[in-house]
Amino acid sequence: MPALVLLGAQWGDEGKGKATDLLGGSVDYVVRYQGGNNAGHTVVVGDQKYALHLLPSGILSPGCTPVIGNGVVVDPSVLLSELSGLNERGVDTSKLLISGNAHIITPYNVTVDKVTERFLGKRKIGTTGRGIGPTYADKINRVGIRVQDLYDESILTQKVEAALDVKNQLLTKLYNRRAIAVGQVVEELLGYAEQIKPYVADTVLVLNKALDEDKVVLFEGGQGTLLDIDHGTYPFVTSSNPTAGGACTGAGVGPTRISRVIGILKAYTTRVGAGPFPTELFDEDGEALRRIGGERGVTTGRDRRCGWFDAVIARYATRVNGLTDFFLTKLDVLTGWEQIPVCVAYEIDGKRVEELPYSQTDFHHAKPVYEMLPGWSEDISKAKSFSDLPKNAQAYVKALEEMSGAPISAIGVGPGRDETIEINSFL
Ligand code: GDP
Ligand code: IMO
Ligand code: MG
Repeated sequence: MPALVLLGAQWGDEGKGKATDLLGGSVDYVVRYQGGNNAGHTVVVGDQKYALHLLPSGILSPGCTPVIGNGVVVDPSVLLSELSGLNERGVDTSKLLISGNAHIITPYNVTVDKVTERFLGKRKIGTTGRGIGPTYADKINRVGIRVQDLYDESILTQKVEAALDVKNQLLTKLYNRRAIAVGQVVEELLGYAEQIKPYVADTVLVLNKALDEDKVVLFEGGQGTLLDIDHGTYPFVTSSNPTAGGACTGAGVGPTRISRVIGILKAYTTRVGAGPFPTELFDEDGEALRRIGGERGVTTGRDRRCGWFDAVIARYATRVNGLTDFFLTKLDVLTGWEQIPVCVAYEIDGKRVEELPYSQTDFHHAKPVYEMLPGWSEDISKAKSFSDLPKNAQAYVKALEEMSGAPISAIGVGPGRDETIEINSFL
C-alpha cells in the first residue's frame, strides 16, 4: 500500500503537521501538492518546535525525501529563508525536490492579494496576504511564472511583461498604486535562481518511479476540505484543492495509486478568516477552547475562531475525499468540560438537515442541532492506548466515529510525536 493522502477534514489547522511528522519516519517521500506559504504546520519534536509554511513536514525526518509538487505555489524568498532557518537549527534539507512546473508567487502577486483585500473592505475573505489567490489566478489565466522559467531569462522577461501589462493598469488606474517595473521583478527572481537550482527536478517522474518500486509516498495537504476552491465554503476558501483529488493533479500521480486517505479532524472546530461557521462560539467556552487549545494562527498570528465539533462537516469530508481513516487531534483540550455539545445536524429555516447543504444561502442560515455528550476531568495526555482513556472520553471518540463515517485510527492527546494513541496502523 504505497500511497497515502493526509489532509485537513475541517477549515485547516487540524494538526496535519504533527500527523505527517509522526508518519514521516516510516515513509520514503512526503509531498506537498497544493497551497503555498499560507499554511502553518507546527511540529513538535522533543523540546524543539518547528513552524513550517511551505516545506513538507517530512523535511524533519532524516530518511524521508520532501517534495514540493507541481500544484504548489512557491514564494522563492520564503523558500530560501525557511531552508536557511532549518539549516541553522541543524536540519539537513539537501534532499528536497521542487517541481519545475510549480508556479512562483511573484512580488506583484503579493501586492495584488493585499490591495484586493483592502478594496473588498468588509466583504474581504481574510486571506493570509501571501499572494496565493492571485498566483493561482495567473496560473489559470495562463500568465503564470513557473520555477523552470527562472532558468531562461528571455522567457522569464516575456512572461513577467505579459503579466504586468494588465496588472499595472489595475494597480495604477483602479487601486491607485505605483506601477511595478518589469526589470526589477526579473532581477529579483533571477537572484533566487542559482540557490534553488539544486532542488529542481521532474518530480512527477521521481514519484511515479518510487511508487513502481513500492516506496511509500505520503501526500500532505495544506488548508482543509472546507477551504477547498470546489468543495469548500466558496467564496470564503483558498484558491486550490486540498481535497484528495488535488493530490493527483498536484503531484502527477493517478488515482489508482492511492490506497489510503486520512482525514485529520480536530475534536472541536476552528476557522481563521471570514466565512460561515455554524458551531462558532462567542462565549466563555469559545474563549476557553482558544486558550487551552492555543488557537492562534501560525502564519498570521490571528486568533482562530473556535466552536464545538461539527459532525455534518466530518461526514461531508468523508464523502468528498473518500476518507478511509480519521486522525482525531486535540482530544486533551476538551478535558474538564462536564458536558460537551456535538453538532449532529443543522436546522435550516425550521427544517432539520442531516447533510451539508450545497446552497451557500442555506449554509449561512444553518443553526447547529446539538447532542450533549458527558465529559471527563482526568488528565489524558499520558494515555498510550484507547483503554487508558476515561470511559467518557472513549464514548466521545466512539460517538464521533459513528457520526463521521470513517474509523478513527489515531488520537492526539498532546502536541508531541509520542502524545498519540495509535488504534489502527496507517502503514
Ligand atoms: P496544521 O496546520 O493542520 O498543521 O495545524 P497547526 O500546526 O496550524 O495547528 C495545530 C496545533 O495543535 C499545533 O500547535 C500543534 O502543535 C497542536 N497539536 C497537534 N495535535 C495536538 C494534540 O493532539 N493535542 C494538543 N494539545 N495539541 C496538538
Ligand atoms: P494550514 O495548512 C487555516 C484561510 C485564510 C482565509 C482563506 C484564504 O495551516 O491548515 P489564502 O491566503 O489561502 O488565499 O486565504 O483561507 N487559510 C487557512 N486557514 N489554515 C490554513 O493552512 C490556511 N491557509 C489559508 O485564513 O480565510
Ligand atoms: Mg496551520
